[in-house]
Amino acid sequence: MKAIRIHSYGDVESLSYEDAPMPQAGPGDIRVRVHAAAVNPVDWKIRAGYLASMVPHKMPLTLGWDVSGVVEQVGAEVTHLSVGDEVYSRPDISRDGSYAEYMVVRASELAVKPQSLSHNEAAAVPLAGLTAWQALFDHAKLKKGERVLIHAGAGGVGSFAIQFAKWAGAHVIATASSANEGLIRNLGADEFVDYRSQRFEDVLGKVDVVLDTIGGDTQTRSVELLRSGGRLFSVVAPPDENALAAVGATGGIFMVQPSSEALGEIAKLIDAGTVRVLIDSVFPLSEARAAHLKSQTGRSKGKIVLEVVPA
Ligand SMILES: NC(=O)c1ccc[n+]([C@@H]2O[C@H](COP(=O)([O-])OP(=O)(O)OC[C@H]3O[C@@H](n4cnc5c(N)ncnc54)[C@H](OP(=O)(O)O)[C@@H]3O)[C@@H](O)[C@H]2O)c1
Repeated sequence: MKAIRIHSYGDVESLSYEDAPMPQAGPGDIRVRVHAAAVNPVDWKIRAGYLASMVPHKMPLTLGWDVSGVVEQVGAEVTHLSVGDEVYSRPDISRDGSYAEYMVVRASELAVKPQSLSHNEAAAVPLAGLTAWQALFDHAKLKKGERVLIHAGAGGVGSFAIQFAKWAGAHVIATASSANEGLIRNLGADEFVDYRSQRFEDVLGKVDVVLDTIGGDTQTRSVELLRSGGRLFSVVAPPDENALAAVGATGGIFMVQPSSEALGEIAKLIDAGTVRVLIDSVFPLSEARAAHLKSQTGRSKGKIVLEVVPA
């Protein structure tokens, strides 16, 4: 089968479109015929070796930890999925990924794909969608009526977070550049801040929850906005616990985890028309280098997809 693999950490040139062995499903696994994968910033961070001490990988490594496809082989212990089922997943990132014609995923990490979506759209959901879901509901325990500030509302994580927070009955504030204001409001944000021309702490009232996808100075200035009892969760950098305590707030950093249960809930919201998927661009699998360069600009609107089986 064809796959995009790396043989050592490096720049985009290290991405190689090549023949790879067909992966075999263990007793608790499913082999998926990959129809589409999505590109996430973690892919090029792993490719470059930035996460090597956190997530050790064996080389050669197939990148990509978002998948939509069809069940092709079922491990002996798997009872809840069958050959032919359409599934999607954000699998374990310590294993080989989805930039390939076939991949092996633990059955417990797969959910039935949203029926209303194409594979290209469904592949765009799991990693960013689960990150937004876990940040808002599992970590920050966002409640109806609370004010939530979402940084990078036009990005993969932010575009889902705006819609989930709105569905949960929160007052949603999102940051982006001015060109993305219409998009942000269309996703359901009640307030928009152009982070390039305004300092958000000067124009916003206090908030209950911050979802930080930026870190650095953006995170530091966000802490000042938190109410007593507020929560700040970051997906990029650990917040200063003393600074949080000084305003009576709590928070931390977390890494998204596979969850077939949450993917099932997200699929229901998508199929009900409550949540939509924002696609920035679609590249053929063989053009993963161009897709990585696009992701590395940090300017994508929604998700970048690698199409493996032409739709
Ligand atoms: N810990 C975890 O488990 C986890 C999970 C998922 C993601 N992450 C990390 O979270 C970050 C975001 O991921 P993503 O997939 O959402 O990225 P993404 O889709 O590449 O984000 C792109 C968006 O970021 C916006 N942006 C850039 N700088 C900004 C700023 N200073 N303020 C507000 N918006 C800004 C851009 O909007 P404009 O063009 O309008 O500027 C663009 O729409 C990445 O670093 C990723 O690695 C971590």
